[in-house]
Amino acid sequence: MSSLEADLAMTVGAEQVLTDPDLLDGYLWDWTRRYTGAARCVARPGSAQEVAGVLRCCADRGVPVVTQGGNTGLVGGSVPGAGAKQPAVLLSTRRLRRLDPVDTLAAQVTAGAGVTLAELRAHAAAAGLEYGVDLAARDSATVGGTIATNAGGINTIRYGPTRAQLLGVEAVLTDGSVLSRMAGLAADNTGYDLTQLLAGSEGTLAVITAARLRLWPAEPVAAAVLAGVSGVAAAANLYAEIRAHLPGLRAAEYLEAAGLDLVREAAGLPLPLGRPHPAYLLAEIAGTPEQAERLGEVALPDDTAVALDRGGRAALWAYRERHTEAISTAGIPHKMDVAIPLGRIAEFRGELDGAVRAAGGPDCRVIVFGHIGAGNLHVNVLGPDPADEAVDEAVLRLAAAFGGTISAEHGIGRAKAGLLHLSRSPGEIAAMRAVRSALDPSGVLNPGVLFT
Ligand code: FAD
Ligand code: MLT
Ligand code: ZN
Repeated sequence: MSSLEADLAMTVGAEQVLTDPDLLDGYLWDWTRRYTGAARCVARPGSAQEVAGVLRCCADRGVPVVTQGGNTGLVGGSVPGAGAKQPAVLLSTRRLRRLDPVDTLAAQVTAGAGVTLAELRAHAAAAGLEYGVDLAARDSATVGGTIATNAGGINTIRYGPTRAQLLGVEAVLTDGSVLSRMAGLAADNTGYDLTQLLAGSEGTLAVITAARLRLWPAEPVAAAVLAGVSGVAAAANLYAEIRAHLPGLRAAEYLEAAGLDLVREAAGLPLPLGRPHPAYLLAEIAGTPEQAERLGEVALPDDTAVALDRGGRAALWAYRERHTEAISTAGIPHKMDVAIPLGRIAEFRGELDGAVRAAGGPDCRVIVFGHIGAGNLHVNVLGPDPADEAVDEAVLRLAAAFGGTISAEHGIGRAKAGLLHLSRSPGEIAAMRAVRSALDPSGVLNPGVLFT
């Protein structure tokens, strides 16, 4: 054992330092199987102090540290880079499993970075409260990972993304210092907001070990609505119409025929409506059954399903939630996660397939779905070699040309580091780099993520 591995073993316990290649393999491939790289070992600290020890061991030697939570990230940031100068230490946060009793007075909770979203949501629900972020990877995605990526998800239009839930963090810098701001004060005006700085930092500034999170009053779900529409413009208009009549609108999701067909094929599901449509809007409404009756005021398309009971709602959601898995069953996708101002989203969609095929060839399969309420389209392309980035660049440039962003919710990761300039000015990038150098002077945290 080299001295680094020996020191790590002293810090976290020998059984929490994995070097067996078979054990490492599960940590080294990202969820999409598009990204992988080398690690000399996996370290699994069980406390903030142990995280501090791991970071000091690595920073002193200039060894890169890739932090990994649930490894459900979709931009390659949770695994080491393929072309890294030296193998990394992969720091897994999954043993950071603190979950304090819910503070029902403040409607807050303290959770360790390794707690999964599903665990956190169930814990809040048991106290009559709701955590505002939810997404299909809920059984694996962690508190730390969702903060580090500022994850969005299906309820962003209701509660905001992860940063809107974040009241405080405990985090460790590479010099081993532990920052802890966990009082959960709603009013606290004492200088730079270091907590918010870590939301979306993608493992490049610090390792988050725990967080103080806002909870919301649990609201009953009254209905899910799946409407067949002609395309993205119609979906956006219907979303606005439902929003105008139903204040309880908590999700507005967009599906297209290509994705729906893949889901049906992979999961053996029937057509969800009376006939096929080019696109669909899936909306979820919170409130009492009486409030859901206001759906009658909305001019819903003729082929629309409304599900009031839990089973019926889940059946409609399955068509949306199974997209990611179904796409990956058909190949290794190029995943682009853009947001476009709603007023220009139809124009963007109109040019998208042409731009993809011009860059990737006529056989590319384009599968679009997403969170229409947030203007967020997930553009998935099957066909081009995973290493070929031409299609990715074409889509992201098109999004920028329409006044959009190259990342709505997944982050920049390794996938888009070279194109950050499409969404950020040179001045902003310089300021972000300066922050990174100040907090991680040795540059060991996730090199190649966010910046090239
Ligand atoms: P990881 O994948 O392990 O890591 C992601 C990034 O965060 C990496 O850069 C990593 O270094 C960093 N990181 C992880 N933990 C820490 C920590 N404790 N401290 C510092 N840095 C850390 N995302 C959405 O936004 N909305 C969705 O609707 C959505 N749906 C999804 C559905 C499926 C089926 C899948 C597979 C993914 C989905 N995602 C979605 C993407 C993914 O779930 C999120 O990005 C999630 O936030 C990642 O959490 P994780 O714990 O898996 O993080
Ligand atoms: C989703 O909304 O389901 C996701 O962000 C996952 C994906 O883009 O595949
Ligand atoms: Zn999404």
